[in-house]
Amino acid sequence: MDTRPVGVFDSGLGGLTAIRSLRRILRGEDLIYFGDTARVPYGGRSKETILQYARQDIKFLREFHPKAIVIACGTVSTTSLKELRAENPDLPIIGVTDPVCARAADVTKNKRVGVIATSASIRSGAYEAALKNLDGEIQIFSKACPLFVPLVENGRFRRGDIVIETIAREYLTPLIHAGIDTLILGCTHYPLLSEVLRDICGAGVELVSAGEESAYALKRLLKSRDTLGDPDHNGVTGFYVSDRTEDFENIASVFLGENIHHTARRVDIEKI
Ligand code: DGL
Repeated sequence: MDTRPVGVFDSGLGGLTAIRSLRRILRGEDLIYFGDTARVPYGGRSKETILQYARQDIKFLREFHPKAIVIACGTVSTTSLKELRAENPDLPIIGVTDPVCARAADVTKNKRVGVIATSASIRSGAYEAALKNLDGEIQIFSKACPLFVPLVENGRFRRGDIVIETIAREYLTPLIHAGIDTLILGCTHYPLLSEVLRDICGAGVELVSAGEESAYALKRLLKSRDTLGDPDHNGVTGFYVSDRTEDFENIASVFLGENIHHTARRVDIEKI
């Protein structure tokens, strides 16, 4: 048994979709969440900047002596995972790309898979490479959705919101016309848009989410290293952000279905 916490980070709120799954799938684990809300979005930035931010995020999480790190951010996973693993050989690090691609390859029947993610993730080609590696017959239809993260961070993700619905329809229409039966939500912010995306895609398209699949991957990893926490413990989550805590707490409370007001702490990530 290993009672050290698991560190989880994202550029902002998106990683909460992984936190929600982790809490369900690994109840006994303590989690430390860091959302880099002062520097979100990462998805339009260069690889060098994303890597530099991710290094600071991991350095901060290392202060808690984690037994593993989940990069609950598609953008960091697709652009920087290799470097971050090489720089932290003592710390198991899980990204979201491989787990969600494995699930999509399993789910698709017509082998036409859509991928929506940030510009940096789509540019990296990581989702395409992972899917092709799993099944060379899969046809991939990708679309960068740069407006989704800022809208989600501003609370504009609900069904009936004309702004998000209009933009989502524009992004998704080419993928629907391509006949996809599976859609990878390749950015961890996107499950907050599930209702809107589902309405547009219809019942014939299965949505698979990067955050959720990474929780299963972490469970397998902890099991294989014999480092699962105490199953009788009720895991707790510590929340840290790099900007105002109030905005984060408001949306996180709604999303997690739990009042987390006055619990998040602010970190000066540039000074880490
Ligand atoms: N949740 C991040 C991801 O999964 C959002 C990236 C961003 O900040 O643009 O890609």
